[in-house]
Amino acid sequence: MFDKRKIVEEFGLSEHIVIYHGDCLELLKTIPDESLKLVVTSPPYNIGKEYERRLKLESYLEQQAAVIRESVRCFLGTVASVGRLEIMWTMAP
Ligand SMILES: C[S@@+](CC[C@H](N)C(=O)[O-])C[C@H]1O[C@@H](n2cnc3c(N)ncnc32)[C@H](O)[C@@H]1O
Repeated sequence: MFDKRKIVEEFGLSEHIVIYHGDCLELLKTIPDESLKLVVTSPPYNIGKEYERRLKLESYLEQQAAVIRESVRCFLGTVASVGRLEIMWTMAP
């Protein structure tokens, strides 16, 4: 049932599985325009959770706006918001 697909750490259009450990904005910058068919995000809440460094509201909003801008640039399809998750999908085959 499962084949042995290679797991890589840098984005490539021909790769099947990329696990990037770092700042998502840096990863997004390496992805070409309109090349993603699905984007699912779970952004930081910025409320002081143990795994996050709380930013000033203006900085947080700027940071998230940059991630959303880059995600939309990479994405080919429709954008929708479902609860706390933003899900972008496409009807393209
Ligand atoms: C709301 S939590 C997501 C939790 C995850 N959905 C789960 O169920 O475990 C936000 C996550 O985003 C990560 N994060 C914050 N800023 C990031 C960034 N610039 N690039 C990548 N991940 C980031 C945080 O470390 C945190 O794990």
